[in-house]
Amino acid sequence: MELRVSSRRIFRPLLALLLIGSAGVYSAAKAQTQPKAPDTMEARVQGCTACHGTHGQGTDNDYFPRLAGKPADYLYNQLQNFREGRRKYPPMNYLVTYLSDDYLHQIATYFSKQRPPYPPPAKPTVSSATLARGQQIVLNGDASKQIPACAACHGKSLTGMEPAIPGLVGLHSDYISAQLGAWRSGTRHAIAPDCMHTIATRLTDEDVNAVAAWLSTQQAPQNPVPAPARSMKTPLACGSEPQ
Ligand code: HEC
Ligand code: HEC
Repeated sequence: MELRVSSRRIFRPLLALLLIGSAGVYSAAKAQTQPKAPDTMEARVQGCTACHGTHGQGTDNDYFPRLAGKPADYLYNQLQNFREGRRKYPPMNYLVTYLSDDYLHQIATYFSKQRPPYPPPAKPTVSSATLARGQQIVLNGDASKQIPACAACHGKSLTGMEPAIPGLVGLHSDYISAQLGAWRSGTRHAIAPDCMHTIATRLTDEDVNAVAAWLSTQQAPQNPVPAPARSMKTPLACGSEPQ
């Protein structure tokens, strides 16, 4: 398993959060019959913000990802993936189990519209040679290993592309390497054809470390909106980004 994060760090806050989370989902379900608390979007996402930040900006926890500003269909696909078991992280799987497509879509749209500031970029903790390798793969790929440039799909400024390719800025290095590891080991799946699985399996451990390290040290651009749909032709077919 590629997860390079101590499971204690991930699971320690969970018990408390699960309680908060289940209370949120439970009261959302109850609100339909007992209109006590107002069923606002802020109330609905209360169980999410402890891990993802009040506006989806993420937290200091290296493993809890930013949601804000990612394309709505990307976020929606992920919520479905957790509900259907194509991605595995027990608290997430549990929280969305009983939520309808419509409800998930509203949550996804809500976070896609949030624009909290980005965290300051991480200070590099790897060698400059490793950073240079990461930059090379992200911006230019590695033709000798059939690795396309990450920027070819995630955008020149790495803010993603509508409707369903996420930005890669503002994510922690541990989160990025864990996701690439999950695609390699088959615990994360996207809609077929799963281009990220193809790409991740062409990366070595060193490549994963290098891209994760370089990405996490990048400053988010002034205007972090995803590129318009079909503004780039993806070098591989991706089921979640029909062209
Ligand atoms: C206990 C902490 C926790 C809570 C509570 C939580 N999440 Fe998450 N969420 C995570 C973690 C950790 C991941 C990454 C899991 C993985 O893929 O390994 C994640 C992933 C996600 C993703 C995918 C992000 C991406 O960029 O791919 C979305 C969308 C998401 N969560 C939405 C929500 C929503 C909506 C709620 C509330 C209903 C919620 N989360 C509650 C911890 C949490
Ligand atoms: C052919 C297009 C394409 C290329 C090239 C590409 N990606 Fe992706 N990437 C995607 C798509 C589509 C998704 C969304 C998959 C899903 O729905 O889960 C994605 C998702 C991701 C995610 C998940 C982000 C999150 O918030 O969980 C990471 C990390 C990622 N890509 C990293 C990379 C890296 C690193 C490279 C270069 C080595 C790369 N990608 C190259 C299309 C691409």
